[in-house]
Amino acid sequence: MKQDNDIYILGIESSCDETASAVVKNGREILSDVVLSQIDIHRLYGGVVPEIASRNHVEAIDKVVKKALSDANVTLGDIDAVAVTYGAGLVGALLVGVSYAKGLAQAQGLPLVAVNHIEGHICANYLTYPDLVPPYTCLLTSGGHTAIVNVEDYDGYNVVCSTVDDAVGEAFDKVARVLGLPYPGGPQIDALSQRGQNVYKFHSVVTSNGNFSYSGLKTAVLNLLHNAEQRGEKLDPSDVACSFTHTAVDGLIDRLRQVVEQNGAQTVAVAGGVGANSYLRSRLKEFERKGLRVCLPKLSLCGDNASMIASRGYYMYINGERAPLSLNACPTLKLRGEKPHH
Ligand code: KG4
Ligand code: ZN
Repeated sequence: MKQDNDIYILGIESSCDETASAVVKNGREILSDVVLSQIDIHRLYGGVVPEIASRNHVEAIDKVVKKALSDANVTLGDIDAVAVTYGAGLVGALLVGVSYAKGLAQAQGLPLVAVNHIEGHICANYLTYPDLVPPYTCLLTSGGHTAIVNVEDYDGYNVVCSTVDDAVGEAFDKVARVLGLPYPGGPQIDALSQRGQNVYKFHSVVTSNGNFSYSGLKTAVLNLLHNAEQRGEKLDPSDVACSFTHTAVDGLIDRLRQVVEQNGAQTVAVAGGVGANSYLRSRLKEFERKGLRVCLPKLSLCGDNASMIASRGYYMYINGERAPLSLNACPTLKLRGEKPHH
């Protein structure tokens, strides 16, 4: 039963190929979490087809939101605000969630909160660790973003470094494609690399000024495979996957260690789809041996979901942030505090 001072946020997420909705209590407790994945549809094309994603969101969104309400055993009358992802992501896909949320908020007389998807990923940590409070340092590793962020408070982020080209998740997906693995490649590479050895050495993904670059690593893997092919050799794909994973992850860990040594952070956290990677999670555990607290969101909360959007929405809501009805999708939205490289 909802108590008088409880705040229930309805989250809506449609930035890529997952139609998701959730009800979260006081920013921390998941009452329901519905994710309808379109992966099986997009796998046929080897990646997300934006137009198909938008159409599927349109068909699914109303059912997904209703299921989130019924799974949580609440009605719209119990909801205090609607939080929706408005960027970054695919513009057509985002617009489905944004339009739906605007209509729902307007019809119900509810406040609307516009959530940055990347800030949402960070909040997956609050749902896994109800006692976690800022400050902490977060390694952000999604399909579209790669950065180390000092989370100073619920609304204050300081981006220490980020990728100058591809995101780490994108590199996993591209290398998987080169190895002939189905979309999305990250989980496939993860499984394959467990059977392989780290035998091939690639250049570090850390640039001379401490940012990340992943496009060179993808090309290096491609060259390795082509050169072997020209010599008539067949490399063991599990060794290639394992060597790639080590290079992709070790650079993140090295930089995170430097940042933490500089800023004296007591807690490190991870966010985004690549946060589900088993090698990354095992390497992050090393920070525990140095006396730091390590936060690894539940696997189901690393990928796209609406609980993280509702959690982020809660902190914005209690801060008085409200979106206007003219809210639009913003496909290239950056994290607060992120500076462009160019
Ligand atoms: O955060 P996310 O769900 O979506 C974005 O906001 O981009 O991240 C998706 C990315 C994809 O590139 C996917 O291949 C990758 O996360 N991913 C993984 C694993 N699970 C998902 N990468 C490596 N290992 C995994 N286990
Ligand atoms: Zn995401």
